[in-house]
Amino acid sequence: MAPVIISDPSQMLALVEDQKRVGKRVGLVPTMGALHAGHLSLVERATNHTDFTVVTIFVNPTQFGPNEDLDKYPRNLQQDLRLLSACNVDVIFTPTVEAMYPTGASTRIVPPEVARPLEGEIRPKHFEGVATIVLKLFHLIPADIGFFGQKDYQQTRVIGQMVEDLNIPIEVQVCPIIREDDGLALSSRNAYLSDTERLQAVALSKALFCIQRMVQEGERNSNALLETAKQTLADASIGQIDYVALVDKHDLSPVQRVDSKTIAVAAVYVGKTRLIDNVFLS
Ligand code: PAF
Repeated sequence: MAPVIISDPSQMLALVEDQKRVGKRVGLVPTMGALHAGHLSLVERATNHTDFTVVTIFVNPTQFGPNEDLDKYPRNLQQDLRLLSACNVDVIFTPTVEAMYPTGASTRIVPPEVARPLEGEIRPKHFEGVATIVLKLFHLIPADIGFFGQKDYQQTRVIGQMVEDLNIPIEVQVCPIIREDDGLALSSRNAYLSDTERLQAVALSKALFCIQRMVQEGERNSNALLETAKQTLADASIGQIDYVALVDKHDLSPVQRVDSKTIAVAAVYVGKTRLIDNVFLS
């Protein structure tokens, strides 16, 4: 059956409450649209693991900084609806900015400590905006399970910690990164890349997989690993590196020696496009 499209928040909540009343397990996949196979893998997981799947499409203005790409963020609602209609989704929630942030709505969530390093240093209000919108979505769609992609690894930690700290009765499932054949992690922002930049961009995953391979071969020293990763980026003329780091996968603090709890994370610019990626080293 074709998914129901809802844009009114109260109607959304009422529908989920009805489903829960009759014992359905509800799955939630929050997105900002411009859907790709990475999103669809979350949707597939949700439809396989729950009885009633809600996908939200909302480009959340509060998580973009003043000089970021809010205005040009890819929006393609018709295409998104087409893709989702082939996926057994029950509801697509597409609220307006005015509905989610009515005039005078100024409350914001202070995100947990894990929001501070990495993205938090470079995009200071980003996780405040993410935590605020995700909490609002959890209220409007009180799901049993929320599905999030590992590509935004720090985001999954922020949301997981918020859920724990605020006793939110929802399970957060983190789903694996989906990659192009050459390794580039799927991202809506890949659409910004020119053909030449697309070729350059592969160096990001290459650098992280290089760290992973060196660890498998026995290297544990973070400095040595990071130097090699930076060299891989430099070889591809990727000059603007926001960070390449080896951090603890729980609190995201930097590690000097890699162990099974370490994750390699990176954020770089390819041309004007900012890309992030990560790889577990266990
Ligand atoms: O990962 C995203 O697309 C967004 O940060 C999210 C979780 C939908 C909140 O706007």
